[in-house]
Amino acid sequence: MEMLRRWLAAGLWAGTLLVPVHAEEPSVEAGLRVSRIGGCHDCHTQGFAETGGQIDPSMALKGSPVGFMGPWGTTYPTNLLLTVEPMSEDAFLDFAKTLETRPPMPWFNLHYMTEFELRSLFRYIKSLGEPGEPAPEYLAPGETPKTPWIVFAPPQMPE
Ligand code: HEC
Repeated sequence: MEMLRRWLAAGLWAGTLLVPVHAEEPSVEAGLRVSRIGGCHDCHTQGFAETGGQIDPSMALKGSPVGFMGPWGTTYPTNLLLTVEPMSEDAFLDFAKTLETRPPMPWFNLHYMTEFELRSLFRYIKSLGEPGEPAPEYLAPGETPKTPWIVFAPPQMPE
């Protein structure tokens, strides 16, 4: 009987300990983590890759003038502060769940994010301050970019 009471007590403790985990509120800190492990800064934050993963707060997610050129034309990592500027948190949720873009943006990864992750990401982007300037406009195939670009070409097979 004493054993049973101890087991029950232990079980109840485990239950109460789990509650805060499920009730975790979306936060700026969680959003920063999502953006880091989601790889968003790799493309959307200038200087990030070159500095081994340092985030310059004045550049964070503000887009990049380095284009990605491929069969789709030339695309530029967007200034995400401008993207979310007119959106409510709920609107961002719908936007992220249905987003489709040109390459090499991994838009499909956003569809797998949980509501907690997307709400946190939104709060993190909103916390970054003044949106600043937009990234260069998309260029159609054949148009020559005015800023540096990376070529995403299909592999050449030896004959
Ligand atoms: C490999 C580089 C790369 C990575 C990694 C990347 N993006 Fe992008 N992203 C781009 C490019 C390039 C575009 C522009 C695509 C276009 O012009 O169609 C873009 C576009 C977007 C857009 C559309 C913006 C708009 O205003 O329509 C959103 C939102 C976005 N990215 C969010 C993210 C998030 C969040 C992450 C991290 C989970 C991420 N991206 C990771 C390159 C990247």
